[in-house]
Amino acid sequence: MKILVVGGGGREHALVWKLKQSPHVTAIFCAPGNAGISQLATSVPIKVSEQKALVEFAKAQNIDLTVVGPDDALAAGIVDFFQANGLRVFGPNQAAAQLESSKVFAKDFMKRHGIPTARSQSFEESAEALRYCQGLSYPVVVKADGLALGKGVIIAETVEEAALAIHEIMELRKFGDAGRRVVIEEFLLGEECSIHALVDGKNYLLFPGAQDHKRAFDGDQGPNTGGMGTFSPPSKLLTPELENAIREQVLDRFIAGLRADGMDYRGMLFPGIMVTSDGPKVLEFNCRFGDPETQVLLTRLKGDLLELLEATIDGRLHEVSAEWRPEPAVCVVMASGGYPGSYPTGLPIAGLDVLSDAITVFHAGTRLEDEHFVTAGGRVLGVTALGADLSQARGCAYEAVAAIKFENAHFRRDIGAKGLKV
Ligand SMILES: Nc1ncnc2c1ncn2[C@@H]1O[C@H](COP(=O)(O)OP(=O)(O)O)[C@@H](O)[C@H]1O
Ligand SMILES: [Mg+2]
Repeated sequence: MKILVVGGGGREHALVWKLKQSPHVTAIFCAPGNAGISQLATSVPIKVSEQKALVEFAKAQNIDLTVVGPDDALAAGIVDFFQANGLRVFGPNQAAAQLESSKVFAKDFMKRHGIPTARSQSFEESAEALRYCQGLSYPVVVKADGLALGKGVIIAETVEEAALAIHEIMELRKFGDAGRRVVIEEFLLGEECSIHALVDGKNYLLFPGAQDHKRAFDGDQGPNTGGMGTFSPPSKLLTPELENAIREQVLDRFIAGLRADGMDYRGMLFPGIMVTSDGPKVLEFNCRFGDPETQVLLTRLKGDLLELLEATIDGRLHEVSAEWRPEPAVCVVMASGGYPGSYPTGLPIAGLDVLSDAITVFHAGTRLEDEHFVTAGGRVLGVTALGADLSQARGCAYEAVAAIKFENAHFRRDIGAKGLKV
């Protein structure tokens, strides 16, 4: 089979790396890819947003399956467009992807189907939102409705901060049309867990859990980022009891909700969960693989990812199963100094050629310059290791991080540490 992966980050590098191991795969392409991906797949210089060019490429190359990585492509209806052109594609259609691209839509879905989530109100008028804020106890969480590159969520400690957030989102349109509506919700206390499950419309296949580290600095300090590292499994947090609660209260109800609403959801579902003293609460639904969760999950997946994706598309998830390595995996993100603010690019990366076989480095923001790897984005590399236990996996990942050099590299030193605490 000929495969096209759409996207160019660490998630897509992990997808390409894993799909390439499938005995069914004869050729693999990635648009636009990155320097690491180009070592495994043929890079195709077409942007994620150029749907027409992607469809033309898939037709010309007789691509058998296209796998879509990023949320914005799904929100823009890439799956519908491929299908309308008779092409096979992995990911939810545009209507279903609204579960990620509209937080108002997702909250309504959760309320309708009894999926536990923070209490909330949605607003189309800033004046009404501002009035509502007066009567609340703080902190509260203000969320732009649409996709905002992970920056559209503000935790407001006071009514003034909430008012400022509403003003910036709805009146100044800081995030463009994503701010036509806002959700204002209850602040939840707890630890976050990333859940992944393939959904074929009627069945789901749950992956192991993972934990992300969203903040830029150690000890969960500093601004939010795209994710500074992950580990899996989060055994301390995701107990068998909690997993059961998530199956019953989130995934079973999600499937029942699809049926009740007549919605066809086929693809990866990645709910962000807050584990509270009152049980799991869904913070949001993501309609695609997480980044950098995918790096640790696929490192632990035994067997053929392609077979799982095909079963998802064909509604046969009840006929397949997935096996997982028992060893934990840790992914430490090496970012450009300054990220998530501004940062330079084009800095040479050294040390990638001397790593042990136990290490997989997934590239995120890299490109080739005269056959040398240089930095090309905020998140640069995801250094991923397996270990006999979590502390060995961390040790192994950090040893590799120490061997990889680029000017002003920034990484957290505590990825996975919360998995070790008693
Ligand atoms: N109700 C809430 N209570 C506490 N923290 C929250 C709440 N909602 C979101 N957050 C925090 O904000 C982050 C981003 O929110 P999320 O809903 O996942 O939006 P997005 O990923 O689209 O930016 C979460 O990972 C979490 O840390
Ligand atoms: Mg999120």
